[in-house]
Amino acid sequence: MIYLDSAATTLQKPPAVVRAASYAMNHLASPGRGGHWPAMQAAETVFACRQEAAELFHADDPEQVVLTFNATHALNLAIKSLVRPGDTVLISSYEHNAVTRPLYALGANIRVAAGPLFHPAAMLDAFEAKLTPEIQCVVCTHVSNVFGYILPIQEIAALCRSCGVPLIVDASQSAGCLPVHLKELGAAFIAMPGHKGLYGPQGTGLLLCNRETVPLLEGGTGSRSADQAMPDFLPDRLEAGTHNVPGAAGLLAGLRFVKAKGLDHILEGERALTIQAARGLSSLPGVTVYAAKNPVCQAGVLSFSLDGMDCEVAGEALGEREIAVRAGLHCAPLAHKAAGTFETGTIRASFSAFNHSAEVGRLVWEVTRLAGRR
Ligand code: ALA
Repeated sequence: MIYLDSAATTLQKPPAVVRAASYAMNHLASPGRGGHWPAMQAAETVFACRQEAAELFHADDPEQVVLTFNATHALNLAIKSLVRPGDTVLISSYEHNAVTRPLYALGANIRVAAGPLFHPAAMLDAFEAKLTPEIQCVVCTHVSNVFGYILPIQEIAALCRSCGVPLIVDASQSAGCLPVHLKELGAAFIAMPGHKGLYGPQGTGLLLCNRETVPLLEGGTGSRSADQAMPDFLPDRLEAGTHNVPGAAGLLAGLRFVKAKGLDHILEGERALTIQAARGLSSLPGVTVYAAKNPVCQAGVLSFSLDGMDCEVAGEALGEREIAVRAGLHCAPLAHKAAGTFETGTIRASFSAFNHSAEVGRLVWEVTRLAGRR
């Protein structure tokens, strides 16, 4: 199987990740739940995970790093800490349902800064025009999970800072391949999965916190047990219940893998594969490729479609030929509306540090065969 669905989750994990998760399952207990060796070791591992993340994402204090189940959980925590029912929130036109559904459920008044694909200047103009005084919060993705479009997050963050509006960044597709800098961005929160570009196990995510928080869950934390209110300090405030220790151990190894490889190196490799795929696929008749003219604003995610063939059917057909892609709306209907692909969806190939050029060659070859079959 050629796995090209790393925007959903990375399937090939570094061996150290698997070893660390397995070691944790065999040897580690629960942090803060005992003074015995397995509990103390678990606490050390979980703390090391926070420390590694704080270093990679430039948080001053490892305790600003909250462990979550995934990016959706992290985004819910961030949004529900900042947004009250009826608040007006500005988002980009490339947001995922993990952003829009919590806002909708809260009854927020959602405004959209819309711009064409791969046009960062237009996106910035849209934010400038829509960031009016009634906006109480901005939520913006760093990279579109559908198109790999890198939004101008530094400039959007500067705009939010200048207006004093808190910013939540969804770093689901950028963490592990682009610099994500909590201090420089001055964001209120940055949310990310642990299981995509950070190569941790599924069931892991991170929330970097720069603001007051509101818990989503209440329960045991192993701290201040006599109090009925949740602790007022991080990370305990947001981490009720037993930790996913094998997940944190695996994520720690994943973070170390990313650090050792280097963000630039990872991005360069994934971008080269994206360019190769875009060139190969766009040379085929009846194939539409949604690629940036200037690759600087595209990460390792590429959408395309085949004229006259339903994208889900094409995705399944590629699966039968041992190529794993994701087809449809990718839980991001807003992004598809922005790109004009809402009615049809797209087929998405997304890369990780484990893919190589020959695999892209096979993708292009199999799409050629599919296109010929129509
Ligand atoms: N948000 C993930 C994706 O894009 C699951 O596939």
